Amino acid sequence: MENMTALITGAGSGIGFGVAQSLAEKGATIIITDINVDAVLLAQKKLSDKGLNVKGIKLDVTNEQDIENLITTLDGMNIDILVNNAGIQHVSRLEDFPMNAWQKIVNVLLTGPARTCKALLPQMRDNGFGRIINIGSIHGLVASPFKSAYVAAKHGLIGFSKVIALETSDTDITINTICPAYVKTPLVEKQIKDQAIQHGISEEDVIHKIMLEPMPKKSFIDIEEISATVCFLASKQAKNMTGQALVLDGGWTVK
Ligand SMILES: NC(=O)c1ccc[n+]([C@@H]2O[C@H](COP(=O)([O-])OP(=O)(O)OC[C@H]3O[C@@H](n4cnc5c(N)ncnc54)[C@H](O)[C@@H]3O)[C@@H](O)[C@H]2O)c1
Repeated sequence: MENMTALITGAGSGIGFGVAQSLAEKGATIIITDINVDAVLLAQKKLSDKGLNVKGIKLDVTNEQDIENLITTLDGMNIDILVNNAGIQHVSRLEDFPMNAWQKIVNVLLTGPARTCKALLPQMRDNGFGRIINIGSIHGLVASPFKSAYVAAKHGLIGFSKVIALETSDTDITINTICPAYVKTPLVEKQIKDQAIQHGISEEDVIHKIMLEPMPKKSFIDIEEISATVCFLASKQAKNMTGQALVLDGGWTVK
């Protein structure tokens, strides 16, 4: 990954931070971005204290101005790898789902990646190289109750990526979506509490009867598994894998 630069959205926490660290350890220069400025600064410090090559930038993927500022801040610096990872969740049946929360989820999870791709594709095209990796979800392929916005947005992300795969087929740019089942991150820790309320069961039962039950392997997905998949997709050797959904689900969808 030496001589490569990777930009990761939502990299102040969880999966995004883990992916940033892995790419940096493989020699890439990393641009850590997140809506949360404190998280960006902390993530930047953690990686630079390890001697890794990292720069932090505040980026809200729903904010057009932030996208414009990003291009200015990059000042011609080439991004070889874009990881669309920023994410939020809201757990509620549709009848009780506030529409502003619904719109916001779609804006972050679906329109956000469209914005970052639109901003960075021209320079990837000029450079004749690009690897776009979306952190999708198993909920891009199957549904669970109380997650209408999230499931719709993650399904949409796979469709969006198929279109971009076709639109970039004339050059060495690829776009793929990694679809993990549950990963123990702050996003899921919060959801355990919310799902316990929605289903009227204990948090322990949410973990075993809702989250791990559909997975024959009965284990959370590790961030390292996702990072390793990102590193493969980002490699030059993955040049003909495009428009795909790569599923890390402990066997959930083979049943
Ligand atoms: N944790 C899981 O079980 C799981 C499973 C499948 C997919 N995912 C996906 O992985 C991605 C990362 O999730 P995570 O579990 O690491 O969550 P997380 O909450 O630990 O991290 C998400 C990050 O996104 C940032 N963010 C939120 N809104 C943003 C915005 N508008 N612009 C920029 N950054 C924003 C947050 O500040 C946070 O740092 C998400 O896309 C999520 O849907 C997570």
